[in-house]
Amino acid sequence: MDGNGRWAKERNLKRTAGHEEGAKVVREITQHCAALGVKYLTLYAFSTENWNRPKLEVEFLMKLLEKYLKSELDIYMQNDIRFRAIGDMSKFSKSLQKQIALTESTTAKNKGLTQVLALNYGSQDEITRAVKRLTQKGLEISQENIEACLDTAGFPDVDILIRTSGEVRISNFMLWQCAYAEMFFVQKFWPNFTKYDLDDIIDDFIKRERRFGGV
Ligand code: FPP
Repeated sequence: MDGNGRWAKERNLKRTAGHEEGAKVVREITQHCAALGVKYLTLYAFSTENWNRPKLEVEFLMKLLEKYLKSELDIYMQNDIRFRAIGDMSKFSKSLQKQIALTESTTAKNKGLTQVLALNYGSQDEITRAVKRLTQKGLEISQENIEACLDTAGFPDVDILIRTSGEVRISNFMLWQCAYAEMFFVQKFWPNFTKYDLDDIIDDFIKRERRFGGV
C-alpha cells in the first residue's frame, strides 16, 4: 500500500492525512474482496523497517491501526471476515497487542475472506524466526517444516502481488510465499486505488498463463 505520503504531499496535506485516507481504501478493498469470494487478502501495513520513520508518524500509524481494528470488528462479523496478523507483535504496545489478539479470537470462526495484516512484518525476519522455531523444536530442515513455522502457516501461497505508487520493488514482503506470484505494479498512489482497479487486475490475472516452472 505505497504512496500515502505522496498522495498527501500533492494536496499540501500532512503525510498522516495520506495514511488516514489509505485506511479508508483498506476498508473498501477488504469488503470488495469479501464480496468477490477472494479467500485471502494480505495488506502490508507496517514493515520491520518502518520504525525508522519520524517518531510522530510511527505513533500516528500505531493509533490509526488500533482505531481501525476497533471500528472494524462489526464489519468483520457482518461480512464473515476472519482477521489474522503476521509479523512480530512483541514490539507493539500492550494495548495494540490486546486489540490484535481480541480481533483474531473474535473472528476466528468466520469462514469467508481472511484479511491478513502484515504488522511489524519483514520477510527476512519471518524466515529467521521460523528457522529458530524449527531448531528449538528439533525438527528436520525441510521445505514443509519451514513453511509450517512461518507466520503464514496454513495459508496458500500468493497468487497476485500488487504494489501501488509506481515503485517496482518487493521490499521484504513475503519473499518465500511469492515464489510464483503474478506481479502487478500500478502507478496510482494507494489512496487513489479503487475496487475497479482491483477488478482490472483480476481480469488480467485470469488471462495469464501460469506454468510454475513447468512447460
Ligand atoms: C506506505 O506509503 C504506507 C505505509 C508505510 C503505511 C500503510 C498504512 C495504511 C494504508 C493505513 C493504515 C493501515 C490500516 C490497515 C488501517 P508511504 O507512507 O511510504 O508513502 P510515500 O512512499 O508516498 O511516502
